[in-house]
Amino acid sequence: MKHAFITGITGQDGSYLTEFLLEKDYKVHGLIRRSSSPNTSRISHLLDDPRWKERLFLHEGDLGDSSNLLRIVEEASPDEIYNLAAMSHVKVSFQVPEYTGNIGALGTIRLLEIIRAQFPKARFYQASTSELFGKVFETPQTELTPFHPRSPYGVAKLYAYWACINYREAYDLYACNGILFNHESPRRGETFVPRKISLAVSRIKMGLQEELVLGNLDAKRDWGYARDFIEGMWLMLQQPKADDYLLATGKTTSVRRFVELAFQYIGIEIEWQGKGIDEVGIDRKSGKTLVRVSTEFFRPAEVDILLGNASKAKSMLGWIPQTSVENLVQIMVEADLKKCKSTAST
Ligand code: NAP
Ligand code: GDD
Repeated sequence: MKHAFITGITGQDGSYLTEFLLEKDYKVHGLIRRSSSPNTSRISHLLDDPRWKERLFLHEGDLGDSSNLLRIVEEASPDEIYNLAAMSHVKVSFQVPEYTGNIGALGTIRLLEIIRAQFPKARFYQASTSELFGKVFETPQTELTPFHPRSPYGVAKLYAYWACINYREAYDLYACNGILFNHESPRRGETFVPRKISLAVSRIKMGLQEELVLGNLDAKRDWGYARDFIEGMWLMLQQPKADDYLLATGKTTSVRRFVELAFQYIGIEIEWQGKGIDEVGIDRKSGKTLVRVSTEFFRPAEVDILLGNASKAKSMLGWIPQTSVENLVQIMVEADLKKCKSTAST
């Protein structure tokens, strides 16, 4: 039986990856931060499932503290390590740049040092990101496109990206970067734009919210479904040789279009009026304003467009994403509507 160690097990990707690995017969160890209130909502269904009692273990610790990390990795004795922990919100990283670097950049080195010294045969996955491309040099982006990060988050991830390659080259570790484009799900944090939209649209439908207030409507992202991306992470660690791979859907969509699709799903057609921060999205039928813009959600530096070419992952790993952005919107709004209905009835 293989042992996996996951940092960031309580996050969106950590929860799907844990499900995936348990189904593949792994023993899964996860790093969990001490919190004054429960932070296991995304994995509580797994913790409560008697099938996984002997195969799922949580260890309290922090990627900022190498003393406890060493003990925990020794307890997990992993064959595979997935480093998913990070302060992952790009806008927030401008407010907490030092902390973002400590966890995203130095946290990765802390783990790599433990692997180098104690578990040189373990396989390592680093959660790299399309934010590395930032102010893009070319579209679509590939594994060969130069980087130009645009936030403290992106800069921290750049350090981690090169740390991963450096340890592979210097110490012959099996260490891979997964350069993942935006991937979403009903488990996505509520302040990332797709989830903010799906939740607001559901609450507006249920009469629980009046308006949705957003930042830059023109930003474009290559949005995929988180479940599709998890298998790609795992596949990267099953190859004869370590390498770096980009995972993306190959289609880009603006925030504005994502909003239109989400409202369409509840039967509302959005008409845009005005310009800049005075732009509003109106329900074409009732004339009611449902979407507004606020500078509160603008970033000091923006990533205007991301669009990935995942040909390498397709040909080398056989990885092909299954979910279109239209399906993704449907999955997310449906789940949030269900959630809002059950909250309203309790
Ligand atoms: P997420 O939902 O924000 O989860 C982040 C995880 O990291 C949470 O479990 C969080 O714990 C944990 N964490 C944060 N700081 C920590 C610390 N100091 N010590 C230990 N754990 C810590 O992120 P995600 O969407 O699942 O993404 C997973 C990884 O992929 C992240 O590194 C992200 O930057 C990267 N990535 C994500 C995307 C995407 O579109 N989702 C794309 C490219 C790359 P708490 O639950 O306690 O907060
Ligand atoms: N969060 C947020 N909130 N973003 C908004 C809003 C808003 O109200 N309005 C417009 N946006 C725009 C942002 O300016 C950005 O251009 C785009 O929507 C996407 O924002 P997020 O959903 O916050 O994601 P992100 O692209 O910045 O970062 C996510 O994807 C990266 C991969 O490209 C995160 O998951 C990162 O951790 C990940 O690396």
